[in-house]
This record gives sequence, structure tokens and C-alpha cells, in this order.
Amino acid sequence: MLELRGVRAGYGRIEVLHGIDLTVGEGEILTIVGANGAGKSTLLKAVSGVVRISGGSITYDGERIDPLGVENIVSRRLIQIPEGRRLFGPMSVEENLQLGGYSRRGSGSPVAERLERVFALFPRLKERLSQQAGTLSGGEQQMLAVGRALMAEPRLLLLDEPSMGLAPIVVQDIFTGLRRLNQEGLTMVLVEQDARIALSLAHRGLVMERGRIVLEDSAQALLDNPEVRAIYFGRRNAGYRRGMEKT
Ligand SMILES: Nc1ncnc2c1ncn2[C@@H]1O[C@H](COP(=O)(O)OP(=O)(O)OP(=O)(O)O)[C@@H](O)[C@H]1O
Ligand SMILES: [Mg+2]
Repeated sequence: MLELRGVRAGYGRIEVLHGIDLTVGEGEILTIVGANGAGKSTLLKAVSGVVRISGGSITYDGERIDPLGVENIVSRRLIQIPEGRRLFGPMSVEENLQLGGYSRRGSGSPVAERLERVFALFPRLKERLSQQAGTLSGGEQQMLAVGRALMAEPRLLLLDEPSMGLAPIVVQDIFTGLRRLNQEGLTMVLVEQDARIALSLAHRGLVMERGRIVLEDSAQALLDNPEVRAIYFGRRNAGYRRGMEKT
């Protein structure tokens, strides 16, 4: 469904991705784990068109998408949930969800139906429809970020650290929702610093270090890999991380 070949990208003269190859199959959850600054977010931004690539190619459903802009990529139902959620804080939950569906106005299923699907997944959003998004708890904000993306009826969903800054029990709620979405057929690329939680959801994983893929295996094999366990498990509890939560 998605294929990257030799993708290079960066900011100004600084190259961050030094030739990334990866594929994502239909119905699959691929996770990319790696430390701060490895280039995980940059990789997702390259796929969603936020960051222009300087080399290689990105193919989605057999079509080169790297020359397209963000809007054209979104209209192909390739949807990114950015790091830090990026909700419209002063707007209500309902308005945020409506805006999520904007790229599919006049097409797809009726908005009311899409809203019902979001509420079936995260009932708490329904109870808080008129609340300002900025006043939601961290967990509720992440639910809203997922819900807003679902309003665009994604075929491929890119998630950037959905567990960030959340208590383990709330992360469980979010990941249960993600698992259900995948069982209904949604393909996902999940970026996480906490390899344990990501690999427990994903089918396959990649480990990224300094802009390169250094390891690729089934999620189970990576979960059992002592090196991965030593370096990437329990990242969310690392003290230096706490000051960096971007909600
Ligand atoms: N807008 C930007 N301008 C310049 N450099 C940037 C920009 N965004 C990211 N970088 C740099 O690119 C490198 C990779 O950053 P990126 O955000 O992709 O890492 P990451 O793996 O997502 O890290 P984290 O786990 O902390 O989110 C870092 O060295 C970062 O400083
Ligand atoms: Mg990041």
C-alpha cells in the first residue's frame, strides 16, 4: 500500500533522513521505534507531504505521492495525526470533529454516520461534545485527535506518539481503540518511543537510529530482542522526556 525507496529529507541544508526504505501492506500496523531525534516524526511528515523529500520516492496505492502537496495527499485518505495532537484548543470537541471531515465534504459517508463511528470507539467524546478541546484531559485530547482523523475516513493512518504524556491506563484505552480500527481494516504506521506498547499492537517493526533503519523484524521478534528491550523499553518513564511533552 505504501512504499518508500531511498527517501532523503531534512530541514534546510541539514539532512535528517539518509535513505529510508520501507513498505506497509494493506491491513498492516507497522511501528517505527527510535530515540529522540532519530527522525521518526520527519519520516511521517515526509509521507504526509509536510516535509519535502530531497531524494528517493514515496508510492501510495501505486502512485508517486512525493511530488503532491499536503492537501492532495489528504484527499487520497492518507491522514496524519501529528505529534502533540494539534487540536483547535478554543473550539469545541464537535467543531474539531467537523473540521476533521472537511477534506471529505460532499463525498464519503454522511457526517452523522462518521460521528457515530467515532463515538462508538470513544464514548467519552460524545459526552463532551460542546466542551472546549483545550480543556479536555490529555487522554481525551488524544481520543479527539484520533476521532478527528477518522472523520476524514482514512485508508492509511499515520500516528506520531499517541501515548506521549499519558498514564498507562489511558494509553490502554487509546490502543484498544486503535486495535479495533485495525481489525476493521485500517492500515497504520505508528511512531513511538516506547517500543513495548507499540510492538504489542503492531505486526511488524522498524528500529530507527540517526535517520537510518537499523533493524526490521516481526513485532514479536523485536519484543523478544534483548537489545531492543534494553534500549527502547520503558522510554515513557525517562525523566528527560517529561519536560518535553507537547500537548
Ligand atoms: N522544523 C525543523 N527545523 C530544523 N530541524 C528540525 C526540525 N524538525 C526536526 N528537526 C531536527 O531533525 C532531527 C529529527 O527530528 P524528529 O522530530 O524527526 O525526531 P523524532 O525521532 O521524531 O524525535 P522525538 O522522539 O523527540 O519526537 C532532529 O535533529 C531535529 O532537531
Ligand atoms: Mg517525534
